[in-house]
Formats: sequence, C-alpha cells, structure tokens
Amino acid sequence: QDKKLWGGRFAEATDGLVELFNASVGFDQRLAEQDIRGSLAHVVMLGQVGILTSEEVAQISDGLGAVLADIRAGTFEWRLDREDVHMNVEAALRDRIGPVAGKLHTARSRNDQVAVDFRLFTKEAALDLAEKTRSLRAVMLAEAEKHLADEVILPGYTHLQVAQPILLAHWFMAYVAMLERDEGRLRDAAARMDESPLGSSALAGTPWPIDRHATAAALGFARPTANSLDGVGSRDFALEFLSACAILSAHLSRLSEELIVYSTFEFGFLTLPDSHTTGSSIMPQKKNPDVSELARAKAGRVFGNLMGLLTVVKGTPLAYNKDLQEDKEGVFDSYDTLSIVLRLYTEMLPRTVWHADVTRAAAARGYSTATDVADFLARQGVPFREAHEVVGGLVGLASRSGRQLWDLSDEELRAAHPLLTGEVAQALTVEQSVRARQSFGGTAPDRVREAIGQAREALTHE
Ligand code: ARG
Repeated sequence: QDKKLWGGRFAEATDGLVELFNASVGFDQRLAEQDIRGSLAHVVMLGQVGILTSEEVAQISDGLGAVLADIRAGTFEWRLDREDVHMNVEAALRDRIGPVAGKLHTARSRNDQVAVDFRLFTKEAALDLAEKTRSLRAVMLAEAEKHLADEVILPGYTHLQVAQPILLAHWFMAYVAMLERDEGRLRDAAARMDESPLGSSALAGTPWPIDRHATAAALGFARPTANSLDGVGSRDFALEFLSACAILSAHLSRLSEELIVYSTFEFGFLTLPDSHTTGSSIMPQKKNPDVSELARAKAGRVFGNLMGLLTVVKGTPLAYNKDLQEDKEGVFDSYDTLSIVLRLYTEMLPRTVWHADVTRAAAARGYSTATDVADFLARQGVPFREAHEVVGGLVGLASRSGRQLWDLSDEELRAAHPLLTGEVAQALTVEQSVRARQSFGGTAPDRVREAIGQAREALTHE
C-alpha cells in the first residue's frame, strides 16, 4: 500500500471495504489506452505553452510510453489500492521515472481526465458500431437483391395474422431502412460528442495558460467543450450512445423474433444454418435458434443500461459527482453486446435458406388477396366501403364452407355483387396482388428494384 495520490489531508488509512467499494480499476482499466493518449496530449501541450521544460516533457512522455507497453504486454500490475485507471497509470509512472511524474497532473483534474478518456472511448465505440451496422445492412441488401431476382413471395402480417402478400425482398428492405437510420443515429451521436473536455480541470477551468484547442486537435476532437462545468459534469454523450444502441437492439430483437417464428416446424419458411443453431441434450431431433433467442433477449440488458445511466444522472447536481463513475459499465456492455450480435447476424443471414414454395403457399392462405377483390369492385365505381362489405361476406361464405375465395363459383360471386365477373380470378393470385402494389414504397417488384437501387447508391456513396 503506498500513500494515496490525494492523501495529503488524511490522517487515517482508508477503510478496506470503502477501498473496495470506491475502486473502479476493475472495469475502467479498459480506458488505459485512452487515458495515456489523453495524458500524452496534455503533457505535450504543457511543454508547448512553457509550463514544463522540454526535458520534463520527454521524461514523462517516454515513461507513459513504457507504461503503455507494459499494459499492452499484460505485465502491468493493476492495484485496487490505487483506485482507478488514472491513478494506477500515474503511480506506475512515478515508480518508473520518479517525482517528475507529479508534474503531469499540472492544470488537470481526474474530472476532466476521465471525461476525455470516456468520450474518446464512446466516440470510437459509436463509429465502430456504425460500421458493423453498415455491414449487416449490406448483407441484408444483398439478400434483398437475391430474393428479388426470384420474386420470392412472403405473407405480410399485421397482428401476426396473414394480411397481404409481399416480396421477401421487400421484407429485407424494411430492415435495411431501419439499419440505415440506426447507423445514422450512431454517427450523429459520435459527431455531437466530438468535443474535448480536457482542460475543464476540476470544474471551473484553470489559472494555467493551457491551450485547450491544441489538446482537442491532438486527440482528434473537432473542438474543446465550451463550458467547464458542462465538460466535466455532463454524460449525455453516453446517454445518446446508449439510446442509439437501445433502438438498434429493438430492431435486432424484432428481426430475431421473426426468424425464430419463421424457422418453426409450423411455419417452415426458412432453415437456419447448423453453424448458428444448437441441439438439445435430451431430444435428438432438436435444432434450436439460440442465437436469435439470445439476440432477442440481449435487448433487455441494453435497454437496462440506458435506463440505468439516465437514473444515475438525473438527480446529480453540477458538476462532477462520484455517481458518474457508474457511467462506464453499461456503455462497455452495450458496445460488447451489439458488436457480437451484429457480427453474428452478418454471418448468419447469408447462410439462412428460405423456402420459396412454403412462403408462397402461406402467402396465399388466410384470404390474403381479399383487399384486391375489394379494389377490383372499387375500380368499377363501387364505393370502397361497400366493396369491403361485399368481399367480407364472400370471405365469411368461403370460410364457413372451408373454401378459398378462388373456389367460389361464378354464381356465388355474381350473387354477392353483379360486377363480380370471372375476371376477378386474376386479381386473386398472390403474384398479381404483389405486382399491383405500385405505389411509391410499395411491394411491387419494380418499386422494390428502385428501392434496392437507391439503397445500393446510399451504401456506396454515403
Ligand atoms: N474513477 C473516477 C470516475 O470514473 C474518476 C474521476 C474521479 N474524480 C473524483 N473527483 N473523485 O468517475
């Protein structure tokens, strides 16, 4: 146990349980690279403005480089009594280069130090998840292209009841649209957090003639934060990252649910690859969609991470409070969780086999083209509400007698409405139903082809 870096005013040693409770080194050592980058930028700037001599800057920089090498090599001794990553690194620097190490913390506080470390980490995490989201989007776009070529038809659902036939490609493109926005949210968050709090010092700024613009630029930030209290006391950059993660998780969870349902024996729409499914220790026949189930469930912890940090922040007065030490684990966890889920789906979806015969047959069931019959009447001048009523009657008649709409006789059709001629039969096919939906954003093959073209363009030129 060495003397605490902040120990000057204390007469008694820290209680052991307090030390354990207070320490964050168990998790914030993950910020070591960012911490040392921040310190290097700071010490170089202290030299530039004449606060430290070039000799001191060289000693401290070299020492920090050696500490970083130890950390990377796994030979660094992380010590709980040194509390957090910042004091572990600084104390190790002092062990290495002696008292000159103590000059590093001139014009700096752990409050701006942790804020800059955590912003560096979160910005990189946001951009990395944005890239991974983009990779999944590219995979789903490629799937859409593949299934458009064969015009594979899928039942479209509302309330999980068959609603209208759609193209499988159209279904994929819905997720492409969601993922495009998810990527945008992550990039927007990264752009908004692109400000360096370093030099805010403890809370009020510093009397030293520092150059915050220089350290911001050296660390790759667009600019320094404009207010020192805000710089050390705000965590909305982490909240924004977590909320973009939460929304992305919700989308991946919906996708998971669909894949789980569609892979059941009862639906039989798709077969998941052996490489991404698991078996049962008792039932030899089982092939379980564990990846999708876990991906569906992981949304829970990501939402929890957002809610957790919102709750931590909400009652804290300005500026820094130790409460803010609780900001990190949820961000690390959300980043790790989404990194793996995005990678898994990027690898799994191209290996998933869709059964076009099954999906087409399912799309034709459940009177899925009833709206087309109503439109057939409405096109001939029958008010849509009246047409709806007439076709509803036909669906009732057919379902009572265990038939489909196309099984009804010409007499039955004409009895329901005189304009219901044999010609309606062609409006009843799922292919015609899909082809007819030519409105912008609709499922007609031509529209989906255009949507894919635009999405391809966006993916290559953004
Ligand atoms: N480990 C601390 C955290 O993560 C670093 C900042 C400590 N600042 C302080 N004034 N105690 O928030």
